[in-house]
Amino acid sequence: MYQLSPSILSADFSCLGEQIRCVEKAGADLLHIDVMDGCFVPRISYGMPVIESIRKVSELPFDVHLMVDEPIRFIADFKACGADMLTVHYEACKHLHAAVLEIKKHGMKAGVALNPATPVEVLKYILPELDYVLIMTVNPGFGGQKFLPMTLGKIKDLSRLCKELGVFADIEVDGGITLENLPDVMAAGANMIVAGTTVFGGCIKDNIAAVKEVFQKRSAL
Ligand code: DX5
Ligand code: ZN
Repeated sequence: MYQLSPSILSADFSCLGEQIRCVEKAGADLLHIDVMDGCFVPRISYGMPVIESIRKVSELPFDVHLMVDEPIRFIADFKACGADMLTVHYEACKHLHAAVLEIKKHGMKAGVALNPATPVEVLKYILPELDYVLIMTVNPGFGGQKFLPMTLGKIKDLSRLCKELGVFADIEVDGGITLENLPDVMAAGANMIVAGTTVFGGCIKDNIAAVKEVFQKRSAL
């Protein structure tokens, strides 16, 4: 029930294919791919050609996080290069509902990301359409930042809102997730866990095993 989505933003790009094979073998459930446009967030990362290349070396579902203004323009392109799940930011879409429908029309799972300052209530009317919600636990744009503790309350608010509305949506968290804060994040209601530095810093195999152990402990409660 808990899923780990390693963020390749923290990978060594000189041997990206190898690193992806390594996370897959070590038990990653998804692969988190951060696409940054230099407008919505201050940095540019990578886009379709990279996704198309790594699609050839991995069977993992591609969890593509678009930190891109007006992402509705690119949804068909991301499907074509191999995305399975597409996340758009609430703050980046003029027509969020239309963007979500477009993702689903292309046969991908649809998620909406919320920046730390955006309250979960903005999703009230669209929640039944979503497969998952991504709660940013840092301000988007960079890997290796410090987890913002106030986002724990937001994860709880979102779990409550889903229950109130009688809808099921996975809750993904992204940014500054460590072995130390992971138990609190899961207790608050998150079940899809993105981790960059925590997976790629040091021995990938050991790091993934350590995350999976925390998952198991939580599942046994
Ligand atoms: C930040 C990205 C994250 C980032 C996470 O804008 O969306 O996915 O790579 O990296 P860590 O886990 O190192 O904070
Ligand atoms: Zn991300």
